[in-house]
Amino acid sequence: MIPNIAPNSYGIPTLYVHDRPFLILGGELHNSSCSSPVYMEEQVWPALRALPLNTVIAPVYWETLEPVEGSFDYTLVDSLLNQARRENKKLILLWFGIWKNGETMYAPSWIKNDPGTYFRACYSPGNPSDTVSPLCSAATEADARAFSHLMAHLKETDGRDNTVIMVQVENEIGFLGAERDFSEAAQKAYHGTVPPVMLEYAGRGTEASAHDTNSSWYDVFGEAAPELFMTYHYCLAIQRIASAGKAEYPLPMNVNAWLEQFPELPGSYPCGGPIAKYMDLWKKLVPSIDMLSPDIYLSDFKGVCDAYSALGNPLFIPEARRDPVTASNVFYAFGQYNALGFSPFGIEDMQPSLPENSAAAPAPDPAVMAALNIDLSAFSSTGTGVYLQRSYTVLSQMTGFLSQLRGTGELHAFIRKNEHDKGCILPLPEIDVKLTYTGFRPDQPGSAGFLIENGRHGFYAVGCQFKIELLAKKGSEKKVSLVRLEEGDFIDDVFCPSRILNGDERMQAAIGPMAGVLRFEFCLY
Ligand code: DGJ
Repeated sequence: MIPNIAPNSYGIPTLYVHDRPFLILGGELHNSSCSSPVYMEEQVWPALRALPLNTVIAPVYWETLEPVEGSFDYTLVDSLLNQARRENKKLILLWFGIWKNGETMYAPSWIKNDPGTYFRACYSPGNPSDTVSPLCSAATEADARAFSHLMAHLKETDGRDNTVIMVQVENEIGFLGAERDFSEAAQKAYHGTVPPVMLEYAGRGTEASAHDTNSSWYDVFGEAAPELFMTYHYCLAIQRIASAGKAEYPLPMNVNAWLEQFPELPGSYPCGGPIAKYMDLWKKLVPSIDMLSPDIYLSDFKGVCDAYSALGNPLFIPEARRDPVTASNVFYAFGQYNALGFSPFGIEDMQPSLPENSAAAPAPDPAVMAALNIDLSAFSSTGTGVYLQRSYTVLSQMTGFLSQLRGTGELHAFIRKNEHDKGCILPLPEIDVKLTYTGFRPDQPGSAGFLIENGRHGFYAVGCQFKIELLAKKGSEKKVSLVRLEEGDFIDDVFCPSRILNGDERMQAAIGPMAGVLRFEFCLY
């Protein structure tokens, strides 16, 4: 079986690779790393060896794949696959096609140089952007042809090994800088009638009157019309591209989102991309895409994950912020949402200590980041590597066990939501567990983790930055007594204790900034 996403016996969408559940402990590379196999060899793979990742998320560039129309060059793709196999890593490929971050960056020169055929979206009538319009079917068709060629090549060269387990179609699509496209084609379509599927989406469905079917986008959707118009056209384009690729080789596919954010004006974030409030429309119009995936640089990790795990959307986080909180958020992603995977961005910068002549990327331009309203701390990887290495080590040794727990109800996750959050009480079947959050330093991970029930009178606590106390259930006549407390680690999915914490250490039921595992056994008397 090729990699696929299917519900497990508890109905939880799960990624299967070689027919076994697979949790993606990933890291996404900087955009340009894969353009040079030598750079990958010398700078990237050595940096990644220190992190127990099982998956590397890496771009494939249309401009290098099809430099001349109809002529394909697989040198970079093949070398990436060979290097990944040697390093024993799986790959998720990012198809940098017509659109990357709301712009047209990676289209080949024969597309860029022919604005007549591959026309640009306009900020206002007659004022072109440098982004190919989503209404340009010639561009969508050219992209679909290239993408299906890539997928056919992957099937032929990797259909058995399954080094590539998933493919992302484009990257953070949408139109930046205006609320919609004003190109001639867009003007005509926007002022024309609304397609039946969008009338249905507007709730006008079968009872649509003659008046409705003649209505313009603004008549039907009012203020939301420009964004829904763009969403509709990006959905059509992505469906065309993804379905062409799937027809050749049906690997799981995702589309990632530049999130809607302050000031929440379409165009200040890419307009027409898969933002949470239109996930229902994406699900309806883009059936070839298996999931919509948030790139989480905002601080409300829980809020974003809640939104992107609604409507049965499997949560996969292809890009997570690079500061140390990423080393704690990863526990919540798997513990709370049964995430398929987690992946900080710029992973080659996150080795526990940067070697000389390291691949560390230059810091992003603060002015650009401020204009985009992006919190710069999300881009700082200082110190993250050492914490991430530990968190990934803990998780990588228990992926089989975690996979079995998906949907059983035996996993109870927690996260510190904001600076006022002191802790929480999680109910287990026989007792309550009080978690008090600790740490609170911006240069360290936050408080997050999960408890795993272990029989009636035991549990494991996994994660970082918290203290634990066992409480009798409210109203119960029984008291709770700690029978045994062990620190340790999972190794190949089996808990292996190191110290038994008793005597003075018995009061130290806590885990600090470096992630850990504690095993509790208790009795009621
Ligand atoms: C989000 C994009 O998806 C990535 O490719 C990268 O550009 C990061 N932002 C920021 O560096």
